[in-house]
Amino acid sequence: MKQQLVEKFSKVFGDKKAIHTFFAPGRVNLIGEHTDYNGGHVFPCALTIGTYAVVSKNEDNTLRFYSLNFEECGVITSSIDDLVYKKEDDWTNYAKGVMWAMKNRGFEMNCGLDILVYGNIPNGSGLSSSASLEVLTGYVLKELFGFEVSLTDLALIGQEAENKFIGVNCGIMDQFAIAMGNEGHAIFLDTATLSYEYAPVDLKGEKIVIMNTNKKRGLGDSKYNERRSECEEALSELQTEVKINSLGELTEEQFEAHKMAIKSDVRRKRAKHAVYENQRTIKAVDALKANNLELFGKLMIASHDSLRDDYEVTGLELDTIVAAALEQPGVIGARMTGAGFGGCAVSIVNNDAVDAFIENVGAAYKEKIGYEADFYVVEIGGGPRTL
Ligand code: GLA
Repeated sequence: MKQQLVEKFSKVFGDKKAIHTFFAPGRVNLIGEHTDYNGGHVFPCALTIGTYAVVSKNEDNTLRFYSLNFEECGVITSSIDDLVYKKEDDWTNYAKGVMWAMKNRGFEMNCGLDILVYGNIPNGSGLSSSASLEVLTGYVLKELFGFEVSLTDLALIGQEAENKFIGVNCGIMDQFAIAMGNEGHAIFLDTATLSYEYAPVDLKGEKIVIMNTNKKRGLGDSKYNERRSECEEALSELQTEVKINSLGELTEEQFEAHKMAIKSDVRRKRAKHAVYENQRTIKAVDALKANNLELFGKLMIASHDSLRDDYEVTGLELDTIVAAALEQPGVIGARMTGAGFGGCAVSIVNNDAVDAFIENVGAAYKEKIGYEADFYVVEIGGGPRTL
C-alpha cells in the first residue's frame, strides 16, 4: 500500500526529497449513541481501515491536495495564510479546518505542504471518514513540524474544526476514538470529563460485521442538530427541578421521577433515550468485562430499539437491515452505529455463521429496499501513526 501511494504521489507532485507517509483509522461505535453531546458515555473502537496521507514540505506557502478518492477534483490549492472555508475546496476543507484550528492554538506551519490522500473507509457510511481525515491532518502537522500536542488535543482540534469550520455540531466521540485508537480494545469514554478506559474486546468465537445500508445521510446533519437542541431544551426544563449539568448525570430512576418537568412528549422521548442509553453503555461495558457477550448483545438490541422509537434516527433502511440481522442464527446483537438516518449498522456474529449471515441479510435487504447492502468483517486497530 505504502509503495503504491508513494509512486502515485510522485506522479502527481513530482519527485521530492523527503516524503512521509501517515495513517489514521476510521471508527465504529459499539454502543452509546447520541450520548456524547449529552455528557454521557460512549464505547467506540478504531478500525484497521482508515485514511492514508503521503506528504512532503514545499518551498512556498502553498497547500496542494490530491485525493485518490476524488480524482475528478484534481489538485486543490490553498495558501497557508488563507485558511478559510470555501465550498469549491471540497473535501480539503476538513484538512484546512484542522490547520486553522491548530494555528489558533499557536501551532503555525512555516511552509506549505503537498498532500496525497487515500481512504478505504466508505464515504458517508457513518464510519467517520471525515474525523479520520481531521485527526490524520493534525497528526501530520504534529509530526512534520514537531508541534507538542497530545492525542487528546488532536481529537479536540478535529472536533473544533468540524464544529466551527465545517459547521457540523458533532460531539467528541469520533475524533477521540480515532486519535486514541488501541488495537484489540474499545474505548469506554466519559464525555463529560474525557476520562477513559481501554476495554479488551477479546472475540475468539465471534466477528464484528458492519452492515452498510448504502443509504446516504442526506438531511442527516440538520436532523442531528435538531436532536441536539431538543436535548438541550429538555435539560433546561429538568434543571428547574434537579441540579444537573447534563442528561448523562441522571440514572433511570431519577429521570422517571422528574421527567414531567419536560413539557413536550417528543423532548421527553429524546431525553429518555439519552439517559437510558448512557446507563446501557455502562452496563454493556460491565457485561463485556464479565465475559457476558449475550448480555452485551441484548443491550445492543435495546439500544437500536430506543434509537428507533424514542430518538427516531434510524429509518427504513437501518431498521430493515437490523431486523434481518436479528433473524439470523448465530447473531449476538445488532444496532445502528454513528449518527443514523442511513449509514451503517454493527453486529456481532458467531464465526461459523458469518457467511450465511451476510448472504441472508444481503438478500432480505435487497428484496425490501431494492438495492444492495455492503458488509465488512472488521478488526479493531490502533490510532494514528507514521508508516
Ligand atoms: C456522529 C457524531 C458523534 C456522535 C454520533 C452519535 O457520529 O459525529 O459525535 O454524536 O453521531 O452517537
